[in-house]
Amino acid sequence: MITPHFPFADFPTHRARRLRRDDFTRRLVREHSLTVNDLIYPVFIVEGSGMITPVPSMPGVNRYSIDELMSVAEDCVKLGIPVMALFPVIAPELKDLQGSEATNPQGLVPRAVRALKERFPDLGVLTDVALDPYTSHGQDGVIDDEGYVINDVTLDILVQQALVQAEAGVDILAPSDMMDGRVGAIRQTLETNQYIHTRIMAYAAKFASAFYGPFRDAVGSASNLGKSSKVTYQMDPGNIDEALREVAADLREGADMVMVKPGMPYLDVIRRVKDAFRVPTFAYQVSGEYAMLKAAAGNGWLDHDKVMMESLLGFKRAGADGILTYFAPDAARILNGSR
Ligand code: PBG
Repeated sequence: MITPHFPFADFPTHRARRLRRDDFTRRLVREHSLTVNDLIYPVFIVEGSGMITPVPSMPGVNRYSIDELMSVAEDCVKLGIPVMALFPVIAPELKDLQGSEATNPQGLVPRAVRALKERFPDLGVLTDVALDPYTSHGQDGVIDDEGYVINDVTLDILVQQALVQAEAGVDILAPSDMMDGRVGAIRQTLETNQYIHTRIMAYAAKFASAFYGPFRDAVGSASNLGKSSKVTYQMDPGNIDEALREVAADLREGADMVMVKPGMPYLDVIRRVKDAFRVPTFAYQVSGEYAMLKAAAGNGWLDHDKVMMESLLGFKRAGADGILTYFAPDAARILNGSR
């Protein structure tokens, strides 16, 4: 038996619609809201100069060369978006079996981080730690003869990748590979090398999802991956107890913040994680979720701005402290009243 919070629940003493009657009342009693401080903007970066190339399956999303990235960053600063997340498109000739380019201190990501931190020191920069943009087979780690991703060998490379990014001055490292023990290995290396301020946002509960499709097109890993999947390291979509164990492990290993990914089909996981751990918890509204909403809005079937804002608010209501979303600038413009 649930004890009612108020003794007057019956009609007509109580009319729920009284509190929905005017805009001022609706605003006054609103339990959750979205602010610009909740947004992290994922951006694709590419080699070259003057490059802005659209991603076909993600209308409104582009790949930017480092010089063009500076105007994107300037927009983020103006809009008050706290953090930008970088995802590299690596040239096919730089990809190999081990993803070696991931550890190149002069690689695309470290150069982008240095350029951003130099020009926009107050804009937070987050980088992904995983090998999939760099491997010729598109997997997040090193594979054996059967194509199985080898955990501990991969850890050594991830640690080097993380260190290179930390040296470049990144604020937040986001391991997205789902190898066992990677957060601990990275944290230990950061401490040993005096990077005591570098934050880790662990992709703690990352599911083997078909919603990552457009992202893999964007970074060009889809064709490398072919028909093989990531089910031997990303989580099974049916699991939630396991998600809590993953979050617990990442926190013990030194994560400052955790993430649930994808977003909308996993709102229950966000709620459970937030309730169980009370730590900064983030949702990733992934490429496929963005593509779905864009496609429907593009066809005139849904109201773009309204579904965008409603989907983002849903993450807050589910318990997320913030959201990685390709809608970040659009949502920020609405929140700032400039659209
Ligand atoms: C890389 C990575 C992926 C995403 C973020 N980091 C793809 C994947 O795991 O295959 C997906 C993001 C998105 O779909 O928007 N490990």
